[in-house]
Amino acid sequence: MADFVTVGKLSEVPPGERLVAQIGRTWVVAFNVGGTIYALEDQCSHEEYPLSDGFLDGTELECAKHGARFDLRTGKNLTPPALVPVQYYEVRIEGDDIQVKI
Ligand code: FES
Repeated sequence: MADFVTVGKLSEVPPGERLVAQIGRTWVVAFNVGGTIYALEDQCSHEEYPLSDGFLDGTELECAKHGARFDLRTGKNLTPPALVPVQYYEVRIEGDDIQVKI
């Protein structure tokens, strides 16, 4: 059963910033977009490359390696060369804790 796991502090991720956390064998990246936190698995669905290196454009993220774009709100792939979504994680804020459901 999925549980919420704390990945970092909201106060340490101002708008436009990101944090990376390892949960078991999974790397998660959380982005602050205008005060809302979105979390994805930290790996592009095109090749093994960390999405935490990517470029934010509103609620879209562009992979730094080949430029595929993803919707941060869903993980949906928006442009080639990515052909499948990336794993999206539900986020909740508890006090100053950023928690993802994993
Ligand atoms: S590794 Fe991300 S677009 Fe190719």
